[in-house]
Amino acid sequence: MFLRRAFICALTALVGARAPGLRLPRQTETDGLQNMVTWDEYSLFINGTRVNIFSGEVHPFRMPVQSLHLDVFQKVKSMGFNAVSAYFHWGMHEPKRGEISFEGFRDLQPFFDAAMKAGIYIIARPGPYINAEVTGGGLPGWGQHTAGLWRTSNASFIDASAGYMKAIGTQLAANQITNGGPVILVQVENEYSGYQPPYTEDFAYESELKSLLRESGVTVPLTVNDAWPGGHFTDIDIYGYDSYPNGFNCSFPDDWLSGAVDSTEYFWGAHLQYSPQSPNAVFEFQGGSLDAWGGAGYENCAQLTGPAFERVFYKNEFAMSTTMLNLYMVFGGTNWGGIAHPGVYTSYDYGAAIAEDRTLREKYYELKLQANFRAVSPAFLTSRPINIFNTQSSFTGNQALKTTQVLDAVGNKTGFYVVRQLDASIDAVQTYTLTVPTSIGTLTIPILGGNLALNGKDSKIHVVDYEAGQSTLLYSTGEILTWATIDERDVVLVYGNSGELHETAFKFSSAPPAATVISGTGKIKTQVLSNNSLALQYTTTGQTVVEIGNNTLLYILDRESAYQFWVLHLPSAGAFAQFDTANPIVIKGGYLIRSVASTGNTLAFTGDLNSTHPVSFEIIAPGAFTSATLNGVKLSLAKTKYGTLTAQKTAVLPTVTLPDLSTLQWKTADSLPEIQPQYSDALWTVANHTTTINALAPLTPVVLYAGDYGFHTGNILWRAHFTATGAEEGFAVHMQGGAAFGYSVWLDATFIGSWEGDPNFADFNGTHAFPGGGLRKASTHVLTIVQDHMGNEEDWWAAGNDFQTPRGVLDYHFIGSNSTSVTIWKVAGNLGGEDYVDTTRGPLNEGGLFGERQGWHLPGFNDAAWARGAPTQGIAHAGVAFYRTTFNLNVPQGVDYPLAIALTKSMTPSNFRAQIYVNGYSFGKYVNNIGPQSVFPVPQGILNYNGLNTLAISLWANDAGGARIDSLALKLTAQIESSMGAVENQPLTVWTSRPGAF
Ligand SMILES: *[C@@H]1O[C@H](CO)[C@@H](O)[C@H](O)[C@H]1NC(C)=O
Repeated sequence: MFLRRAFICALTALVGARAPGLRLPRQTETDGLQNMVTWDEYSLFINGTRVNIFSGEVHPFRMPVQSLHLDVFQKVKSMGFNAVSAYFHWGMHEPKRGEISFEGFRDLQPFFDAAMKAGIYIIARPGPYINAEVTGGGLPGWGQHTAGLWRTSNASFIDASAGYMKAIGTQLAANQITNGGPVILVQVENEYSGYQPPYTEDFAYESELKSLLRESGVTVPLTVNDAWPGGHFTDIDIYGYDSYPNGFNCSFPDDWLSGAVDSTEYFWGAHLQYSPQSPNAVFEFQGGSLDAWGGAGYENCAQLTGPAFERVFYKNEFAMSTTMLNLYMVFGGTNWGGIAHPGVYTSYDYGAAIAEDRTLREKYYELKLQANFRAVSPAFLTSRPINIFNTQSSFTGNQALKTTQVLDAVGNKTGFYVVRQLDASIDAVQTYTLTVPTSIGTLTIPILGGNLALNGKDSKIHVVDYEAGQSTLLYSTGEILTWATIDERDVVLVYGNSGELHETAFKFSSAPPAATVISGTGKIKTQVLSNNSLALQYTTTGQTVVEIGNNTLLYILDRESAYQFWVLHLPSAGAFAQFDTANPIVIKGGYLIRSVASTGNTLAFTGDLNSTHPVSFEIIAPGAFTSATLNGVKLSLAKTKYGTLTAQKTAVLPTVTLPDLSTLQWKTADSLPEIQPQYSDALWTVANHTTTINALAPLTPVVLYAGDYGFHTGNILWRAHFTATGAEEGFAVHMQGGAAFGYSVWLDATFIGSWEGDPNFADFNGTHAFPGGGLRKASTHVLTIVQDHMGNEEDWWAAGNDFQTPRGVLDYHFIGSNSTSVTIWKVAGNLGGEDYVDTTRGPLNEGGLFGERQGWHLPGFNDAAWARGAPTQGIAHAGVAFYRTTFNLNVPQGVDYPLAIALTKSMTPSNFRAQIYVNGYSFGKYVNNIGPQSVFPVPQGILNYNGLNTLAISLWANDAGGARIDSLALKLTAQIESSMGAVENQPLTVWTSRPGAF
């Protein structure tokens, strides 16, 4: 009842705010199923209150350690975001048709629970298709042998996907905000925007998916993410789209497309055309970049999409009143096991604000400035861009600049002016003045003389008639970080680049009070304007605090200083306590401040420190709080002249001793016994299908597509038995495994060649000569092929079935002998195929190498009988070797010390691949001749930080001369004193005998 009333009150408030001549706000829209999450043409409402949605993408399956979700969510929350958008992976949950699992790391409940604990709303994106750079775009492996037009209303596809959609729908429904959970929106399909001709947008498919979700109890609004604002799938509650304006070429991270900003200006018109009744929503905006095999590496991607990119492009979205903005990714995680599609490698760091090892990049701190501004600017939530396509030189007179005027169309007071370069690629400094209408008439700013400057790739949001508590900022060119009313005093934080000239003017109801610098070395110039306004001119350098009368405190900050501020909120009571934004506490200092709570007169902060130098804190809080703790330790407080609290603390960063992987005792065994004469492949799957649903008609007498036999990940092995005519000179084979794949071929025990792989080749035609002298007539032989499976292709074109692009042998023949035929083909992949063995680590963890089928990668496997040998010694011939070692870790509590396995590229050109297993989890696929990844982060919880660990490595040498790993080390990627919750190890289940293993 109460909720209903709150909802009606909000409506009344809206109508009450209507000003004559303004367009009447539409009645708040609902989906008719609930009143908790509603929307209108401007913004989303939760519980009757308008909310700005600034969210970041996080994928539960790319972080298998359930107890680390909270750490990531808290980091997202502390950045000033309020939501996370998440894909769910059908193939991971339904690896065998009809057997749907939410076991182990696939249990979604810890993900939702952590979101609740952190105060993060969830925008759920269950598919069935997700794209996401995952194998098959999320479609399950068994889709390789399931007929139908995938991503259409074709009955066989609806039938195939209905089980998963209902199962995931039920999970989402149980965790909806209406049921006390964090889920506020559910996206249907993903990027359903391209259709394989002759097929077109399938409206029956769209409505079928909506029904499946509704039937499973999903009542929150349904959303759509079009691949661009193209008007597909618009029959939905809230339509939105993708935008990646800076592209994905991380090799030239400082080269921006000149039209990257300008070319997005049509988004606003598209929004009005396709979804005028709902907010302008971008459900995926570039937050980083993927990187392909052989790519430039994620540090480059982070630079391509770094703080300058964030300033220009996220403010450009602000300029189009994008009140729902989701960044893809905010934390990318890891493509461990076989998660990746062929276009990406093990790391899915994405150059995101939060790196793969969960450390914070500078990008994070820049985002924090923008997110906090959005969070305290309700006028933005009812705004409209006014001068779309008429932005060049507007308000500045500078032809090189574009400025969008964004006005609050409901409050009819506040204006935002978003200034940036017209040509996004330009680094030149532009000077300008801003001539804008204000409540006291048109002003040209700066008023006290001088010019404003835009320093190359930058963008600014200047505000006019902006409310900050009881204070009104007549204008501010210094950008607003946040404001808070604390003890009836409005504290306003503004910032600019170091040394920039800015002005902020306040409006008073009577003669303006004096403005005095009370702290810091900055100088201010003031001028009283008409209508009791007071303008302050200053340069942003360090931190200067200005007192303006008794009721206003202005913090003037340069960007570096601004980065250090955190805006937290005291939680209220009840299940949604962490979502409360009523009682702000502002604190400066620390690498990360996660939360604040209060007991009596004590503020209890939790946070992380990474510096061995003393960190200075400043706390802006109600005077009633006279004591404070950080991570439970009392801070020794002093009080500033203007009433804030200061303290210092130094991080405690204990040293830990890490094992030296080069001196550990390693054991080794041959993982390619298949080429030995005595080897029997009796237990292998016979590849004897003569038909396939695959659109690619086989050129071979029997189908040699691994997916047709239930093998969808990791290494695939093939065996071809034949009787020689005596004329054979060699074997020609056309293999396909996805971009950057490789293969090696043996005739009996003799190595006859490899394809070492190339990121530009998904398939390869190789010819491999038989050893000199040829084969004896009527002799019997077996060819053994080891191939890599780089993941299934995505399925971007609906009805195109690209994801069924086969992995395996596309064609073969014997050179010199057309009449030789293979008597039997056999195939091996992960043990059990779709009946995979390791339900703890899931269907994509193991491939088909002998060692993997036997479970050699698992803790507890008895390798006593193995020889001594290390991967740094390697093997002297083509083949596959397995290595195992164990070591102990003893990392104390209270720190976050992320670890990685670091390899170095072999000095001598050498073609080989290695897989890294940590406690049985496949956490790295290294390709020496392709790269780029050589450092593989492994999260705590996969690594046992307080006990025994098993490290196993497979080494597949493609060259006759063999291969070795040049060096191998366990290294810390950061050292942080941390308040993150205790990390529980994922089940590190040990080896047990594997019935039927061969
Ligand atoms: C809705 O508002 C009421 C009253 O403030 C509050 O008790 C409740 O927790 C809110 N619910 C949600 C989901 O935010």
